[in-house]
Amino acid sequence: MTIKAQSVSKRYRSPVSKASVIDAVAGISLDINVGSSTVIYGPTGSGKTTLLRMLSGISKPTSGEIIFHTLHYTETGDRKLSSFRERYIGYVPQRSMLIKDLSVFENVISPNAFRQRHIRSLKSAARTLLERLNLEDTAQRKPDTLSGGESRMVMIARAILTRPAFLFADEPVSELDDDSAKLVLDLFSELKRDGSAIFIASHEPLAFGGNTDLYAIKNGRITEHTRGGHR
Ligand SMILES: Nc1ncnc2c1ncn2[C@@H]1O[C@H](COP(=O)(O)OP(=O)(O)O)[C@@H](O)[C@H]1O
Ligand SMILES: [Mg+2]
Repeated sequence: MTIKAQSVSKRYRSPVSKASVIDAVAGISLDINVGSSTVIYGPTGSGKTTLLRMLSGISKPTSGEIIFHTLHYTETGDRKLSSFRERYIGYVPQRSMLIKDLSVFENVISPNAFRQRHIRSLKSAARTLLERLNLEDTAQRKPDTLSGGESRMVMIARAILTRPAFLFADEPVSELDDDSAKLVLDLFSELKRDGSAIFIASHEPLAFGGNTDLYAIKNGRITEHTRGGHR
């Protein structure tokens, strides 16, 4: 299974002047295969978040196409695209978005609990993940009692709970201490070993183990690509 991006671009109208535009992503082509890992790194404003949101089907490109199997993102309706996302995609947004009235535990299972019948296995997976991240003591707390790093890890647990085929993580460890970052990256590595694709945006060339494709991005363009297989 592969997600293919073909000359993908995203142009925003400038929020201040209607006449000017921002080319946040400008003609990026890449393939994401299951069982692979990719790190894309670049400075703030280089287009990482915009690219991840398009690759995962949250927002559509203004030109170019993203293709998964026979599904062409730009030609696909919102409902069909969102059911594709539910089935195949995990997404860790750059900013934590937890539901404030639910406990940490309920947040981890929440996007999945209502449509999946295997609630018992979801709950047990959620417990295991929270333990692996040293967050078991936070399970019954509300998100606004968590530190920034703890909320990041809860978002991560939520995104990987159902072991998605494609995981997109937007600066997942940039707020975490080294030990917590290692816990997270170990979970990602296990997911990759089990056959998922891991796609990470980072402001620096994050080391994610061998066989990781490394892309540098600047002004919406790929400026350098090192294939993982050769290291
Ligand atoms: N909704 C938006 N409207 C207008 N410009 C945007 C919008 N979202 C992002 N941008 C601009 O697009 C560029 C890329 O942003 P982003 O993808 O968030 O970069 P990064 O994640 O690498 O920091 C930036 O110049 C940013 O200001
Ligand atoms: Mg970003």
